Amino acid sequence: MHDVKILLNAVYEKVISDNIFEGMEELFNGLRKVRVNSTKEKWDYIVKSVLFEHPIKEIIFEDPFTKRCFGQPRGYSGDAVILDMIYKHRSIKFDNITDKGKKIYQYTSSASASQAVRFRREYQARLIDEVAGIRNKPNILSVACGHLREMEISKAVKNFEIGGFTGIDQDAKSLEVVKKDYGKYGVTLLNNSVIDILKGKCSLKNFDLIYAGGLYDYLPDKIASQLTLKLFNLLADGGRLLIANFIPNIKDIGFMESYMNWHLILRDQVKMEKLMQGISESMIRGCKLFIEQKNNIIFLEVYKA
Ligand SMILES: C[S@@+](CC[C@H](N)C(=O)[O-])C[C@H]1O[C@@H](n2cnc3c(N)ncnc32)[C@H](O)[C@@H]1O
Repeated sequence: MHDVKILLNAVYEKVISDNIFEGMEELFNGLRKVRVNSTKEKWDYIVKSVLFEHPIKEIIFEDPFTKRCFGQPRGYSGDAVILDMIYKHRSIKFDNITDKGKKIYQYTSSASASQAVRFRREYQARLIDEVAGIRNKPNILSVACGHLREMEISKAVKNFEIGGFTGIDQDAKSLEVVKKDYGKYGVTLLNNSVIDILKGKCSLKNFDLIYAGGLYDYLPDKIASQLTLKLFNLLADGGRLLIANFIPNIKDIGFMESYMNWHLILRDQVKMEKLMQGISESMIRGCKLFIEQKNNIIFLEVYKA
């Protein structure tokens, strides 16, 4: 506990003397070390009794990204507005942000988890383009689509080369944004949850590409496996399924789980492979598993025979 206080005091000194980048770097590295070396009970205690009691907390909350994550105004973590903050999307405008808040945001939105999330968006857009290049007018489904920001960086979407694009999300407010921003591309929006999909409440079939970015990190193993099988069965022959998940022990984990109140279900390669267990091997033409360069997110791509 004493070490954590020493860490926070050192970071505080740096941050108040405007040495923000160095202070935040020390905080991210230090909190990660504490988090991975603590039991869950000890970590929860440190967060509540040490991290939240230190005056550094109020300065950190001058960063609107961290503050929104922590406050969860939509009732859950990782809403689509937060993702827009990570994407540095043009819709994000910060009023009344302090100088320190701006600099802390520069750090948090450039931290390695944020970079990986931006990569995920770009990768999804590239996959949409690739599928549109090999299948005429493909039918695409994004599960837990948020604001569907990959649409605006996909060339195939802009060139109207997509046959059908469906986005599903539990959050109606996010779907309104999609309708306003991308309705011109002809997107079908379904305000449904994963459980609705599993119960067969959504009319879905024959997709050339299905992807879920930023969803599996919230799904317990049983639901995640059931969803994987369900989505695989919604693919047309030769279709692809892409699932992304944060991996354990990432650099940002301590900061995310404390000051951001952002708790993810993390999966390594073995756990990702297990998600495919319900799918009959004869139905799988191949699969690809890789971790992106920043070492935060693992991607599983499964190809249907
Ligand atoms: C981290 S955001 C990712 C949004 C988008 N895919 C992206 O990468 O920008 C997570 C999204 O998952 C949605 N979500 C979380 N749990 C869900 C569930 N059980 N059913 C449907 N949507 C869910 C949230 O509403 C939110 O829009």
